[in-house]
Amino acid sequence: MIASTLTAQTVASKLSGILDEPLVELASDGTVEGDIDNDTSSSDRVIIVASTTTSSAHMDLLELQELASKRDPDKIITVLSYMGYARQDKAFKYGAPISARAVAQPIGTGTDQVYVVNPHNVSVLDYFGVPAEPIDAAPKLAKAIPNDLTDPLFLGPDEDATWIARSVRDSYGSGEVDNFDKLRHSATSVEMTTSETEFTGQDVILADDMIATGGTMSEAISILDEQDVGRLFVTCVHPVLAGKAVSKLYRAGVDNICATDSIDKSVSKVSAAGPIAEKF
Ligand code: R5P
Repeated sequence: MIASTLTAQTVASKLSGILDEPLVELASDGTVEGDIDNDTSSSDRVIIVASTTTSSAHMDLLELQELASKRDPDKIITVLSYMGYARQDKAFKYGAPISARAVAQPIGTGTDQVYVVNPHNVSVLDYFGVPAEPIDAAPKLAKAIPNDLTDPLFLGPDEDATWIARSVRDSYGSGEVDNFDKLRHSATSVEMTTSETEFTGQDVILADDMIATGGTMSEAISILDEQDVGRLFVTCVHPVLAGKAVSKLYRAGVDNICATDSIDKSVSKVSAAGPIAEKF
């Protein structure tokens, strides 16, 4: 059976459909609402799908794990379609907490196995203290791109995003892969430099693991604006889209943003459920 935090209902519903396993509401004694049997004695496994976009979603996940444990299942498996704080994977200054570790440790105590959809850095998987694996949902982004692109270029806005761009390209089937170089000055300010490459006439697909403030993508778009590129598509796995990120991107000239439903937003045009289902 599958249980979901409020924030992961869409991707959990789709996973339920693909796996043909019921999506249930768990009660405090471990029983479930709905039309499946309420036998509390045992069940093979409980899959909990969570998108920890907020502190409350994180708490929601820990409570679901506690409820699931009341069923005494063979296995509790936690799927993080989006892991909040994953970017804080080390102490960025002396004395600062490692936030990714702080959130991962309690999650690890309530589960036997963790899967994380496109963690910013796979090093965070060690923080759970139980077997943990990444899932790559980036190939699904290719499904939202027209199949008649001209000389397509799959571009990471920084070096770390190159493999996401490559993953989308491989799924699309053809095209070059390149990346910009990024220097982050603050949470909202980034400076970008280009490679020597000219992109004139090419259709460009920007691809990143996430868009948060939109600063990174806006900077990349402004560089592309100075070149005579063809159509421009902005893609990411996790549409965090904090504050006025969407307006910022539209002001920068993008009218085509595509993301997965790892976080359920209006731009979530493809689902991470397929790649998640492949683990089961
Ligand atoms: C950072 O390295 C990530 O891959 C993204 O580029 C970054 O998180 C995007 O953040 P923002 O939209 O705030 O620039």
